[in-house]
Amino acid sequence: MLTIPGSVAVVTGASSGIGRELALELAATGATVVALARREDRLASLTEQLRRSTPESGYVVCDVSDTDHFVDVLSRLEADRGRIDILINNAAISEPDGEGVEPYRRLMETNYFSVVAGTLTVLPGMRSRGCGAVVNVSSDTARAPTPGEPGYSASKAAVSAFTEALSFETEGDGVHLHVLYPGWVPTEMTQPDGRADPHRPPKFVRRTPHQVARLVVSRLGQRRLELDATKVARIAPVARALFPSAYRRGVRASLRT
Ligand SMILES: NC(=O)c1ccc[n+]([C@@H]2O[C@H](COP(=O)([O-])OP(=O)(O)OC[C@H]3O[C@@H](n4cnc5c(N)ncnc54)[C@H](OP(=O)(O)O)[C@@H]3O)[C@@H](O)[C@H]2O)c1
Repeated sequence: MLTIPGSVAVVTGASSGIGRELALELAATGATVVALARREDRLASLTEQLRRSTPESGYVVCDVSDTDHFVDVLSRLEADRGRIDILINNAAISEPDGEGVEPYRRLMETNYFSVVAGTLTVLPGMRSRGCGAVVNVSSDTARAPTPGEPGYSASKAAVSAFTEALSFETEGDGVHLHVLYPGWVPTEMTQPDGRADPHRPPKFVRRTPHQVARLVVSRLGQRRLELDATKVARIAPVARALFPSAYRRGVRASLRT
């Protein structure tokens, strides 16, 4: 049974947004947190805050799209800290600019292959201890792809499918895989200039980073695969499956408003 106080948690993409809040919430609940991202200044100031809750918390600068380096970082952390009980694969980038296949390949390296690499690296240790949790952060675009985000939607669909398929193999091992659907959250990804977008989604799908972090921490290690920050977002895939033509008309209409 996973207990957060005293556990060792690794959070990728912890330098901003949802990942930063998840790191703080885990530390506040008693986990020793190791924060990963590329921007060291952000990680250093976050770590000061984490250490007020759990003094052994720290950070490692890591570009998760370099999967060899990411695997090496996780393996060294596991050796140094004795174990990794919780891994939150949160780091991601949004739809790439540029032409041709390469931008999409780079997107998949960050958003999908890092998730595969991280999950496969920590699973053996968790299985041998009979305890652990991995949260792979997906998006509602995985279940209802968003116009204008073909690469991002595909990367998140891959994250969801990978995690769900693998979760059947870990059942009974004491290891819980989760897929997180955060709803729409104001972060650097969704509001790069920091200003509220007048076209942001309606209130019922909006959540704060803190609300998402609290949901995750309250559900970690439970049997539930999918962690939904907003229940209503589950309606879109159902409507898409049952009424595909009407659903597409609705999506097109929403683009014109
Ligand atoms: N915000 C939303 O509405 C929303 C909705 C659905 C899903 N999500 C998902 O939630 C997660 C967090 O997103 P967010 O909204 O909090 O965005 P964010 O504030 O832009 O955070 C993204 C984080 O990922 C890190 N990152 C990006 N590329 C990286 C790389 N190659 N190596 C290591 N770290 C990397 C960034 O740090 P550095 O730049 O310092 O590396 C940053 O800390 C993502 O998986 C996103 O797809 C967000």
